[in-house]
Amino acid sequence: MGKKIVLAYSGGLDTSVGIKWLTKKGYDVIAYMADVGQESDFETYKQRALRTGAVKAIVDDLKDEFVEDFVFKALKADALYEGGYLLATALSRPLIAKGMVKAAVEEGAVAVAHGCTGKGNDQVRFEVSIGALDSKLDIVAFVREWELKTRQEEIDYAKKNNIPIEATAKKPYSIDLNLWGISIESGKLEDPYFEPEGGVYQLTKGVDEAKKTPTYVEIEFKNGVPVKLDGKAMDGTSLILKLSKVAGDAGIGRSDMVENRLVGIKSREIYEAPAGWTLYAAHKALESLVLDRELSHFKEMIALKYSEIVYYGLWYTPLREALDKFIDETQKAVNGTVRMKLHKGNCSVVGRKSPDSLYKKELATYEKGDKFDQSLAKGFNRIWGLPYRGSQSLEK
Ligand code: ARG
Repeated sequence: MGKKIVLAYSGGLDTSVGIKWLTKKGYDVIAYMADVGQESDFETYKQRALRTGAVKAIVDDLKDEFVEDFVFKALKADALYEGGYLLATALSRPLIAKGMVKAAVEEGAVAVAHGCTGKGNDQVRFEVSIGALDSKLDIVAFVREWELKTRQEEIDYAKKNNIPIEATAKKPYSIDLNLWGISIESGKLEDPYFEPEGGVYQLTKGVDEAKKTPTYVEIEFKNGVPVKLDGKAMDGTSLILKLSKVAGDAGIGRSDMVENRLVGIKSREIYEAPAGWTLYAAHKALESLVLDRELSHFKEMIALKYSEIVYYGLWYTPLREALDKFIDETQKAVNGTVRMKLHKGNCSVVGRKSPDSLYKKELATYEKGDKFDQSLAKGFNRIWGLPYRGSQSLEK
């Protein structure tokens, strides 16, 4: 009996070869698959892992935990990285790391392994998270270590070692999918000027193929979290999956960006998050109704920081935990309903209402019934501008 290692297994080429490579290094490999809504054929992958030499294969359904404890925290924070990325991949990593560590403890493993390269953010997220949760576990990042330099060399290794794979020498893109969204990179996308062809996208229709007529959806929030879709109470996972389909059909949720990776390089990435963008816009619209100006503006700064924390792999840190407490405090008033119009790639807020609304018609109105005492404005304006009176010259 070798020492046990828990491997984050995807069923693809790298991690399949990884099973064999780790076995040859003397490990008993436990293939660990986290179900975060990526709709993989887990049964097939389980069999594949075992046939490749894993001593055990585990499928861990983490969908609800992913939504409740990761996705919804990011939603409440309005976290968005560099204006285009709702962090689907980044949010899943600390949860998968936790699942791996739990499995390692249960199985008596001495190490965990992942198939990330040495150039990406995901290796950082996995390793920082694993280290925070259990500093005694060894981490084997085999793709960084092994001698297989190209995809073809991996395929040759797989053939020589009878590893069942479906891989082809050229894989068009590198893809990571979960129920909050998909991340697509590499291949032709490495040219930042190359326009991705329609086939790249998986969760959204293009504007041309999108539904011709607008779709209206009503989303009800309680304490900053969506609880009803079109009047129907739903758990978070079902709500996201349903909305993802509806919004994706309307062409909502694509982004194409060059982003700054933590390891210092810029990379071109395509994202789709149809439910994510719809909920992000709806949530912000509701916040604009119920949060006062100062809190609202301060929270925007927190949103930026929160997105960095998630992107940089710092989920299991005191700062993230403290910010979540602050954010939850702000969300006590984020109750109500937002009406959205989804049409040909446009996701517009067309209505919002809340029992905690701070909007006062009698103050805002330009019609009859105005309660705003405009006579007070003269003094307000004078005092507000006091420090600057006479300070500027017309000649510059
Ligand atoms: N750039 C994104 C991130 O760092 C996605 C990474 C995974 N993408 C992929 N296509 N495998 O979160």
